Amino acid sequence: MTAPTADQSAEQLPRPTRLSDVKGWFFTADQLMFDWFLAHQQDRSVSGDLLELGAYMGKSAIFLGARKRSEERFTVCDLFDSPAEDSSNSKEMKKSYATLTRRAFEANYLSFHDELPTIVQGLSSVVRDHVADGSVRFAHIDASHLYEHVHGDILSVRELLTEDGVVVMDDYRAEHCPGVAAATWQAVANEGLRPVCITGTKFYGTWGDPEPLQKALLGWLQSRKDVWHEVQYVNDAPLIRLSAKGAKEPAQPVSRHRAKAAERPPQRPAVPAQKASAVRPAGRPQRSVLRRVALDVLPPVVTRAIVSARRKGRTAGR
Ligand SMILES: C[S@@+](CC[C@H](N)C(=O)[O-])C[C@H]1O[C@@H](n2cnc3c(N)ncnc32)[C@H](O)[C@@H]1O
Repeated sequence: MTAPTADQSAEQLPRPTRLSDVKGWFFTADQLMFDWFLAHQQDRSVSGDLLELGAYMGKSAIFLGARKRSEERFTVCDLFDSPAEDSSNSKEMKKSYATLTRRAFEANYLSFHDELPTIVQGLSSVVRDHVADGSVRFAHIDASHLYEHVHGDILSVRELLTEDGVVVMDDYRAEHCPGVAAATWQAVANEGLRPVCITGTKFYGTWGDPEPLQKALLGWLQSRKDVWHEVQYVNDAPLIRLSAKGAKEPAQPVSRHRAKAAERPPQRPAVPAQKASAVRPAGRPQRSVLRRVALDVLPPVVTRAIVSARRKGRTAGR
């Protein structure tokens, strides 16, 4: 499964000091939902492993890894810098993930965790060769966003999930990837997938009974004044919609580089070289050209006499 990785020296590898430094697409509403579903499963001693199809630089994987129990396995499947096998997928990779390398993912992940997850470097279509059917309690589908791949990923995940496992579909309604929307709602109509809730970017569903999950989620949402929600009916089934603009984010995984960053003296904001002369401590007036020349060329005693005469003149004029 392993393929050669792109050459990348240690100096070029990322050293994120917090999760928000990691490149990716994993917003507060979904961080809250991942946190809620995983904690809910943990509170009910739901057993099972974790799975992510499509990790990119590791943003959601790092978050998921922090919620993994020690006896559980977390599998991450991504092409990383391996070639895709069809031209549409290659085009998608080149356009959206050109700078991705497995080493960058690993450097990011190890900034927050002592061990890497189980990595399957390859097409998501091979994931069933690496993960046992009926073993996964939480799966995040975020690999290729093209219809035929997403459709295949949904069918694989249906087999991999435990009876009441939860699947998350990324970008189920985004304009640039209508194939994800088609595959998601097709699975609802034809493959027995049952929606639990949606955010602006992700769809959460199960092949088990969504009702207890929705009941518990609504209870939690009522206690969160910073998270907006409503219930709509789609094909006679309830679907919770939520939005978390301005909401407090859940506990973040802590980077091992964080303490070092905090120890460094605060740095001045970077200023383009040509504008450096425009930066001066607040509240201090800019020196006139005449005064700067005087300071540079005249003996201190003469400079002091000129400054004192100018001050007296200014006071007299008030
Ligand atoms: C949207 S990104 C994942 C974002 C990540 N989950 C996050 O939250 O930051 C999609 C990833 O899927 C991978 N990918 C694309 N097509 C794939 C395929 N057919 N099989 C496996 N991985 C694929 C890309 O390499 C890319 O890293």
